[in-house]
Amino acid sequence: MAVLNVNIDHVATVRQARLTDEPDPVWAAVQCELAGANGITIHLRQDRRHICDRDVRLLSQTVACKLNLEMCMAEPIVRIAEEVKPDQVTLVPEKRAELTTEGGLDCARYKKRLAAVVKRMHKKRILVSTFITPDAEQIIASAQTGCDAIELHTGMYANAKGQRAVKRRLTELTAGKDLAMENKLVVHAGHGLTYRNIAGAARIEGLCEFNIGHSIVARAVLVGIKQATAEMIELIDKFNP
Ligand code: PXP
Repeated sequence: MAVLNVNIDHVATVRQARLTDEPDPVWAAVQCELAGANGITIHLRQDRRHICDRDVRLLSQTVACKLNLEMCMAEPIVRIAEEVKPDQVTLVPEKRAELTTEGGLDCARYKKRLAAVVKRMHKKRILVSTFITPDAEQIIASAQTGCDAIELHTGMYANAKGQRAVKRRLTELTAGKDLAMENKLVVHAGHGLTYRNIAGAARIEGLCEFNIGHSIVARAVLVGIKQATAEMIELIDKFNP
């Protein structure tokens, strides 16, 4: 059965809009956990546009469920992960001008660096997942470099228009999941998932974790983050086999 990690980056986005101290992502994480979230996901970006170092450090001490740190492979960020020791890191590409993570990580191109980062994370007992498109080359590179898991990029599914396009994207995700499982990788999924489109992704048997942020935080503005988290968990449980 698949579980939910709530990405709370955008709680910090609201705080940073006024460079103040509220809302505090640490408080939000508590509410998500009380609602039954399996984990809390945060992305420490190099430009610190939302989550900042203080959040990472405090959350590493306060989150009792899984702490999943999204990050790029830049050396200063890798060093922070080694110090803070989250339960899991999800390696993502990062561009300064992007609104959110755009593509998947090119694990095949950066195989040497990836293998080195995996080794360093494993030394600290941190699980490693790579955020990738469902391409065989990327899945195989993740397996060959010793990653524990992959997170399949569901953005193309989320943006697909029309039944045929949606079906095609779900078929790609399912094939990627199958290949990853054959290569002994745990399979996560995320990006662009909402209360409206989660059913299709949740129906894919074998997916273990969903990382969902924007849609939950958007709903939280209206109903509170505890209820928003509980409603997403209910949908995942309803549709996941
Ligand atoms: N997974 C990864 C790797 C991401 O970079 C993001 C966005 O930070 C998410 C999941 C969550 O995406 P969304 O905010 O669209 O739910």
